[in-house]
Amino acid sequence: MTILVTGARGNVGHAVVDALVSAGQDVRAASRDATTLDVPDGVATVSADLERPETLDAALDGVGSVFLYTQRQGIDGFVKAAEAAGVRHVVLLSSGATLEPRSAQSRIAQLHRAVEEALIAASFGETLLNPGAFATNALGWRAGIADGVVRTAYPDSRSGAIHERDIADVAARILVDGSHVGAALPLSGPEPISFREQAAVLAEVLGRPLRVEELTPEQAAAQMTALGWPPEVPPEVLRAMERTTREPSVVTDVVRDVTGKAPRTFRQWAEDHRADFA
Ligand SMILES: NC(=O)c1ccc[n+]([C@@H]2O[C@H](COP(=O)([O-])OP(=O)(O)OC[C@H]3O[C@@H](n4cnc5c(N)ncnc54)[C@H](OP(=O)(O)O)[C@@H]3O)[C@@H](O)[C@H]2O)c1
Repeated sequence: MTILVTGARGNVGHAVVDALVSAGQDVRAASRDATTLDVPDGVATVSADLERPETLDAALDGVGSVFLYTQRQGIDGFVKAAEAAGVRHVVLLSSGATLEPRSAQSRIAQLHRAVEEALIAASFGETLLNPGAFATNALGWRAGIADGVVRTAYPDSRSGAIHERDIADVAARILVDGSHVGAALPLSGPEPISFREQAAVLAEVLGRPLRVEELTPEQAAAQMTALGWPPEVPPEVLRAMERTTREPSVVTDVVRDVTGKAPRTFRQWAEDHRADFA
């Protein structure tokens, strides 16, 4: 049966489409505006907006399983439409925030948890992917890197930064096998790496020196707000960044357990994204 990939233009969604096509699957790629999608030959595209339930019936017609982005607005409409369409399995890109002990105080965790709970209560099976920090967050440094500078608060904050293709490979494996129903999977890259170390790797891969300039939390919060983040999110992200200068990062074996391959390193990510920093 057809596998629907929502957010097929997104970093992870695009990689899920590629992984499913490589696995020989029948894929339908969705975006709020399908005319803007760039997908491999043979992949059908459809416009679907999780906040506009009337767009979902056509997207879900004949679909057996779905890769879903977390979108609080519209999740009830999605569940209803997916149940009506006979969907059997949904793999959700959620967040590691929902698995943390402090999740009850976290706005980010609450937003993701609400979607997780709606899927758990649905009649179809669900698998929750709970990654920590993405390696793609480094794309936010592009403007500074053009000037030879990586600007960040808490440069010694460490995370098990994960390559989007590892998240996608896990999602694709589970979608193809129909496995891990009912599971919540904490995903990470292979090792803890600080922002300062990421900058050093990028400098080597790009072949030019990069200076790290530490932003105050206030400067970093202003940048995040300028990117359109909801106002309650920057303080929480900055608290987590400060905390991870002191506490060990979560690194798991889930990518290897599910895909049989070691997760990609940050260096591999930087090599794959060299053109993004040109
Ligand atoms: N960054 C991190 O460190 C981190 C850590 C843990 C979890 N996460 C999770 O990962 C997500 C980001 O993943 P990413 O980097 O792949 O994101 P991305 O590149 O920004 O893509 C987001 C996708 O969501 C789709 N989307 C947005 N609103 C939608 C709607 N109303 N209906 C249907 N689709 C909609 C967009 O589709 P169109 O624009 O094509 O319509 C887009 O393709 C976060 O939102 C968070 O839930 C991130």
